[in-house]
Amino acid sequence: MPNPFTLGVASGEPLPDGVILWTRLTGLSHPVEVRWQLAEDDRFARVVQQGTVQALPAWAHSVHVRVEGLRPATDYFYRFRSGSELSPAGRTRTAPDAASTQQVRFAAANCQRFEHGWFTAYRHLAAERPDVVFHLGDYIYEYGRPAQGVRRVDPPEETTTLAGYRARYAAYKRDPDLQAAHAAAPWVPTWDDHEVMDNYQGRGDGSDRFLRRRAAAYQAYYEHMPLRVRPREGALQMYRRRTYGLVADFMVLDVRQFRDAGTMLGAAQESWLLSRLTSTPVRWRVLVQPLFFTRRFVPGPPPNLRKDAWDGRPEQRARLLAAVSRNLVVLSGDVHNAWAGDVVDAAGQTVGAEFVGSAISSNPPVTDGPGVLAANPHLRYFDAHRGYLSGAVSQAEFRVAFKGVDFVDRKDAPVRTLAEFVTEGRGIRRVDV
Ligand SMILES: [Fe+2]
Repeated sequence: MPNPFTLGVASGEPLPDGVILWTRLTGLSHPVEVRWQLAEDDRFARVVQQGTVQALPAWAHSVHVRVEGLRPATDYFYRFRSGSELSPAGRTRTAPDAASTQQVRFAAANCQRFEHGWFTAYRHLAAERPDVVFHLGDYIYEYGRPAQGVRRVDPPEETTTLAGYRARYAAYKRDPDLQAAHAAAPWVPTWDDHEVMDNYQGRGDGSDRFLRRRAAAYQAYYEHMPLRVRPREGALQMYRRRTYGLVADFMVLDVRQFRDAGTMLGAAQESWLLSRLTSTPVRWRVLVQPLFFTRRFVPGPPPNLRKDAWDGRPEQRARLLAAVSRNLVVLSGDVHNAWAGDVVDAAGQTVGAEFVGSAISSNPPVTDGPGVLAANPHLRYFDAHRGYLSGAVSQAEFRVAFKGVDFVDRKDAPVRTLAEFVTEGRGIRRVDV
């Protein structure tokens, strides 16, 4: 039997006492037994937990091990075995306990179209060994293979079926830099549109055909991510919070599954979010989600506001902003360029900061960055490199560095800090110059 661990390993959904361990075995048709080990050291001399799970064809031989009883804010190492074949080892880390004031180091990534380039940024992200990695959507792109590209995704057809989505995830997951980023830290992912279909909203056109496609895409997403919750009847519970002591309350949003004509989140998700925003004792309220949140007026011919971002749902945005007076931080992606700015409420008060990551590899659109900055005084930074966000959060400040690579059409681009910003709760200040 060839080694079945071709898609790497991952961990995710860290709590103070547990994590999810993930792998997916390939080249198998029957159920197989998989052994897992969790240790305090990377040589597995001090194994603290181990067990056996079944990898089933119905779930594409994916494995989601729910580990409990761990110590908070602690590094652990894990691996899998099937027969005589061993997986690579991964490093994970639990969240701190509820009273912790310890600093949190995070990374955030998004938008990684395979054909557009190499995932070198992920190799640099992995080297940082953050406490947690957020993915802000567009983990795969469903499109058929373009005529020209830096590399070829196989098979080339647009993904519409369970088999198609599984094959697309497998193509992405074979990338060694992406595998390194998963093996370096626990992930907390959310999705945008391309995990299903370009610009879809909610139940789409409501047809059986679309709902079957969405259900297939959601199942494949689960099968390839270290999630705690399984899809049920074509739905997958994605909005949730991951709390890091008294420092950061990361509220992970789902801007696709419940989207309708009037809202980005639907009524149930909004009331969940509003109650947490108004009641949390934690210093930083962080929205982890794909879409440009604050107003972005684009000069020139209309439309001057993008309807598929939060500018298309201003009433719901206003209700969220009315629930906070400061200490709001929004992490976003989607637009394939980097931005940073102040988050301003309807009364003109600055209540927080937004950091928009560009893309791991996806091509940017033609964007008049300086023109948009001039038309939006609350936006303060634009940059067109590929890259990711690197954050350090304490009781005192929320600090974000924009990390960039100069090229993705060849391997081995070095990384550098393009700019660094700090917020103390109301608006941003550049600190690298
Ligand atoms: Fe994207």
